[in-house]
Amino acid sequence: MSAIRVLAVASEVYPIIKTGGLADVVGALPAALKTEAIETRTLIPGYPAVTGSLQGAEEVLHLPDFHGGPARVLSGASAGIDLFVLDAPHLFDRPGNPYSSPDGADWPDNAIRFAALGRIAADIGQGSIPAFAPDIVHAHDWQAGLTHAYLHYSDRPRPGTVMTVHNLAFQGQFPRELLATIGLPPQSFNLDGVEYYGSIGFLKAGLRFADRITTVSPTYALEIQQPQEGMGLDGLLRGRSDVLSGILNGIDTSVWNPATDPHIASLFDADSLQNRALNKAALQQRLGLRVAPEAFLLGVISRMSWQKGLDLLLETFPAVLSDDVQLALLGNGDPDLQNRYRAMAEANPRQVGVSTDYDESLAHLIQAGADALVVPSRFEPCGLTQLCALRYGAVPIVSRVGGLADTVVDTDEDTIAAGAATGVKFEPVTAEDLGSALRRAHALFRNKRIWTELQRNGMAVDVSWVDRASNYADLYRQLVKARQIARA
Ligand code: ADP
Ligand code: GLC
Repeated sequence: MSAIRVLAVASEVYPIIKTGGLADVVGALPAALKTEAIETRTLIPGYPAVTGSLQGAEEVLHLPDFHGGPARVLSGASAGIDLFVLDAPHLFDRPGNPYSSPDGADWPDNAIRFAALGRIAADIGQGSIPAFAPDIVHAHDWQAGLTHAYLHYSDRPRPGTVMTVHNLAFQGQFPRELLATIGLPPQSFNLDGVEYYGSIGFLKAGLRFADRITTVSPTYALEIQQPQEGMGLDGLLRGRSDVLSGILNGIDTSVWNPATDPHIASLFDADSLQNRALNKAALQQRLGLRVAPEAFLLGVISRMSWQKGLDLLLETFPAVLSDDVQLALLGNGDPDLQNRYRAMAEANPRQVGVSTDYDESLAHLIQAGADALVVPSRFEPCGLTQLCALRYGAVPIVSRVGGLADTVVDTDEDTIAAGAATGVKFEPVTAEDLGSALRRAHALFRNKRIWTELQRNGMAVDVSWVDRASNYADLYRQLVKARQIARA
């Protein structure tokens, strides 16, 4: 069996540049796919963090005038990941995160920046770098979505195409006046093309033209075909349900391994759960909480946005808060939510600890020291923090949506008897039901035998990429085969 070559296209990749789980997935998948004879190259924009860390860089494409400045594609590696980097300083050599300036405003030329990414991805897909002519181009999220439109409107042969939706809430919609600037033909602007409610829809384009569509959990794959969760794209997705599937994310189990984790105070595994107590004490100390081994310490690690339901936790927490309940929250985003959490911490300094930084080390310590991890999302395509929590013996308390529904097994008599229970799930996603779930979890926590069982069951769950990557490998192989048959 000869290797399949995949060009992955994305706007972030861990550990080089990350704002969320997208980076984790794009960073971990190539290594996991190697054992499946899938050779991946990842195309990302040349932000300062990317060009600054690239090793063995070699220019493989030169573009003297590309959207208002010179650009080139560099081939190289960073953090062990094989990359093509779109080095276009006038578009990407900027401070701030991939999408916005340091003051938080989206860059006004984001349409052009990410159209440029898609344009180059399509070119590489059609063989512009002869040393790596991919069988498949795999685009992640709206930033890469236009790739498939460029391939569709080209006369030259194209590779197979896959579009993965990590979050349907971010769609990349831009004014129709930009159509010519970004190099799409006038006839592309219609319902069957890139037009989306009067604008150009980058994600819409990717979903419209990809040979296969995936999203990051089976439940989310069903949810997004419903009007309520489809965010305007449910009709298109229902129409393409024959090529749409959900493949669960995994986590990088070498980065997230409580037996070797350099960020935590005491290493542990399922047979030495007692060592977690030292991590709990270290976490309590770090956030200025009362160092109380018996307290029920809840952890949260999250972007702060409507999606994540953290307003519901704020609403219900005062009623749950008692002397023996504590909260360790790490989250940034929505300024109003950040302020409200800070105010709660100021009012209850020994019970509520809040950090609004982006702090990977603290994220690891929370997983290792909290008794439970709360994820009350209104919707969640997959979610990674509950997977890390399972691996670290922090019992997940989650809403029954998307990937949270697929990866956590609720605790009841049957699931306990079957040795399958791993956490607490609730629905509907309201403050009241979250409050009940927290009280239910607290009652389970008081029963040390059952709680230890939940921790051990969770730690035995395979949250690695091994099986999950093989689903992508199968999808790629099927697609390559289907295209061979179509050509024959
Ligand atoms: P999303 O991508 O929607 O934000 P995920 O659960 O898929 O949600 O991924 C979030 C990732 O970002 C996880 O790896 C989590 O540990 C990390 N993370 C979120 N907030 C922070 C933070 N403030 N500091 C460090 N890591 C964070
Ligand atoms: C998105 C989703 C999250 C998912 C991540 C990686 O950011 O919000 O649920 O885990 O992408 O696929």
